[in-house]
Amino acid sequence: MGKIIGVANIKGGVGKTSLTNALAHELSNMGKKVLVIDADPQASQTYLFGIDQDEILEEKYEKHSILNIYQNKECVPFEYNQNLHVIFSSRILQESTESRIKPGLELVLNRWLIKNKVRENYDFTLIDPPSNRGVLMISTILASDYVLIPQRLTLLDETGTVELFLEMSTQAELRGKEIKILGLVPVFFDKRSKLYREKLIKLKDEIKSFVEGDEFLSIEKEEVFFSPIRQLSVWVKAQEEQIPLREYILNKDRSYMSVLEEVKKVTIEILETAK
Ligand SMILES: Nc1ncnc2c1ncn2[C@@H]1O[C@H](COP(=O)(O)OP(=O)(O)OP(=O)(O)O)[C@@H](O)[C@H]1O
Ligand SMILES: [Mg+2]
Repeated sequence: MGKIIGVANIKGGVGKTSLTNALAHELSNMGKKVLVIDADPQASQTYLFGIDQDEILEEKYEKHSILNIYQNKECVPFEYNQNLHVIFSSRILQESTESRIKPGLELVLNRWLIKNKVRENYDFTLIDPPSNRGVLMISTILASDYVLIPQRLTLLDETGTVELFLEMSTQAELRGKEIKILGLVPVFFDKRSKLYREKLIKLKDEIKSFVEGDEFLSIEKEEVFFSPIRQLSVWVKAQEEQIPLREYILNKDRSYMSVLEEVKKVTIEILETAK
């Protein structure tokens, strides 16, 4: 059975979309069949797959839009390549999930994934939700087998993580369903910073004891944190040219090969953990 992983954080701009995209390319390149679902009305993930805001509304992309899922219509993943399929987002998603606040809306995505046999058809499904506590983020958490958390190591980002853990705990209790955290990925990391290394140790202990004290939460990664991803300009450069990070480094700037190694390392750790 394939695994569904929601990449979530309440804090915005922590690199959820970038990490999700890089993992999707890496996993599919390793021969895994991957589905990426852009569940954020900002549609940044969709953009990274080469589709701009205005293009999404074009008729030829209509059937690949997540909007269909929330409107109970047929949704067909777009075949980016043989191993990598994508469900695009749309800014209209915002209105249709806000204006139709009805009970059960947060379960629609979960139901769609089951009905469409997504676990049977894909080795990995990665969901990229917005960073607020709305229906789209909750439905991502509820639809996922695991929640993967990209984590920056500044004080304000830690506050976001506490909020996310409380939210997951509340949702789990409310639904009487265990929520499994896959682990946290330190992002925007600076390997030279002693402060960061100390923070990792402190946060690891705090998170472990929080999860241990919570009946409905669990964490798969024994060490809590996966290998870190450094803050480097190549991420921004590749995105500005709308080229996947992997392709950008391999074809345009091989001086960043170590970044691909980082992504590969995290991907392998995820493969070993999400069993
Ligand atoms: N490892 C990195 N090093 C440097 N810049 C990065 C890195 N990862 C992401 N970025 C940049 O940080 C910005 C935010 O990244 P991204 O959009 O992936 O975050 P997000 O958490 O998905 O944001 P949002 O909350 O808006 O969905 C982007 O400009 C991206 O290029
Ligand atoms: Mg994003």
